[in-house]
Amino acid sequence: MAANALDRHLVLVGFMGAGKSKIGAEVARRLRRELIDVDAEIERAEGPIERIFAERGEAAFRELEARQFAAAAGRFFPSVIVLGAGAVETRELLSGGWVFQVVQLDVDVEAAWERAKGSSRPLAQDETEFRRRFELRAPLYAEVADARARDADDVVLAAAGIHVETGGLQLLERFVKEPAALVTEPVVGGIHGADAQLAFPFEESHDLPSGEAAKEIGAVERFWRSLRIGRDGTLVALGGGALTDAAGFAAATYLRGLPWIPIPTTLTGQVDAAIGGKTAIDLAEGKNLVGAFHWPERTIIDPALLATLPERERRNGLAEVVKTGLLAGEPLWELREPELVRRCAAFKAAVCLRDPQDRGERKMLNLGHTFAHALEAGARFGVSHGDAVALGLLAALRMSALDTTAVEDVLAPEPVPADRELAWQALERDKKGEGGEPRLVLLEAPGQPLIDVEVPPELVRAELNRLIAE
Ligand SMILES: NC(=O)c1ccc[n+]([C@@H]2O[C@H](COP(=O)([O-])OP(=O)(O)OC[C@H]3O[C@@H](n4cnc5c(N)ncnc54)[C@H](O)[C@@H]3O)[C@@H](O)[C@H]2O)c1
Ligand SMILES: [Zn+2]
Repeated sequence: MAANALDRHLVLVGFMGAGKSKIGAEVARRLRRELIDVDAEIERAEGPIERIFAERGEAAFRELEARQFAAAAGRFFPSVIVLGAGAVETRELLSGGWVFQVVQLDVDVEAAWERAKGSSRPLAQDETEFRRRFELRAPLYAEVADARARDADDVVLAAAGIHVETGGLQLLERFVKEPAALVTEPVVGGIHGADAQLAFPFEESHDLPSGEAAKEIGAVERFWRSLRIGRDGTLVALGGGALTDAAGFAAATYLRGLPWIPIPTTLTGQVDAAIGGKTAIDLAEGKNLVGAFHWPERTIIDPALLATLPERERRNGLAEVVKTGLLAGEPLWELREPELVRRCAAFKAAVCLRDPQDRGERKMLNLGHTFAHALEAGARFGVSHGDAVALGLLAALRMSALDTTAVEDVLAPEPVPADRELAWQALERDKKGEGGEPRLVLLEAPGQPLIDVEVPPELVRAELNRLIAE
């Protein structure tokens, strides 16, 4: 069983009526992967399934199914493979867990029967037989599947190894391989550390400093030197984006790489920082200048951990939520908390699964951030990241000639005091395109990001100036 589908096939299983074909198609579209529907492949090669059942029997059908599945699983490029409901009855079919990740689409028997009855499917002709098969297969799905899902967002999250669940700390028992080490920081450790230790008896427990100080090389060096676990162990990181960035970097580098599990405790962490495998520390020359791509084995997101988050930190996260909603083309900021986190996390996960090494479209996640980074530099970091991003989003929408109401209503950005020259120098250094013009992420429309748009410097500078208080 694989923990994620990063470079593997994603296989969807589940009972009739669970929506496998429809959700499979949606997931394939979002991950830009090919969709292989095993039943459809069989029909293409052999004719209608009802006829195969009637003329050759179920056993012959299961053989054809196994053959088509093997052909799909043998393809080079990771795809989305939809398996027929009964395939799990062929026990050896999914036993080679190292090549694919299996996700079960969940449905209850009533809903399944409502959808399947009246269809021509051979095993949906009689309600008693339908229910018998449902009971028979439920434990088989549970055995082969790494995760359960109800919709396309759930499947994308599972594909990234992300579990969004209230009370998620309990999952540690299932996922952590011993020997295990916990790393947190004093503020978060003081509030949630005991619960983590209760959920899993960590042999080692470490502290990095709270906030951005976790990302200083000295702090990381002390952490490296205190670690005792070996490469067979797991590093669990409990904290905000600064803590998971630093701990993830330590996990990427210590002994040339350990499996790690972030448990983000800020809204920024849950919708952004702990997703996608980017880890980093800071240099005096700038933030995030040293780092590694190191995809977590699992990510555990428990929205209940946000209950203790100070309002100021929530606001920082909300700016990233608005950014995500603009990129997705949906007002995700209007959702309530567990669902808001789930939807935003799924959006970022899909972008990162498509572009894990940040070579192309993942750049869209920089929406508003070129201006934000310039303002942070111009204000010598006297402005919060969230306030800077709010202003950056405002600027990006204005330059895209789009409505700014959502950003104004939800984030109420106000111009901040900053050194105009310093801010402009930072922006130029940050985003010089080939022609020497700044390159920005803009929107054609909400939900339609444009990356690497070259914009004349005087326009960008004028827009930047509007964000700075007199
Ligand atoms: N890797 C990525 O893709 C990525 C993306 C976005 C941001 N980041 C990084 O994330 C960092 C910012 O993360 P952040 O905004 O989470 O800040 P943070 O990690 O500094 O946490 C903010 C503050 O909140 C406190 N805190 C955290 N969780 C709490 C809780 N549940 N209850 C009470 N207090 C809590 C912390 O002690 C800290 O003082 C930056 O370093 C940024 O570069 C990384
Ligand atoms: Zn940000």
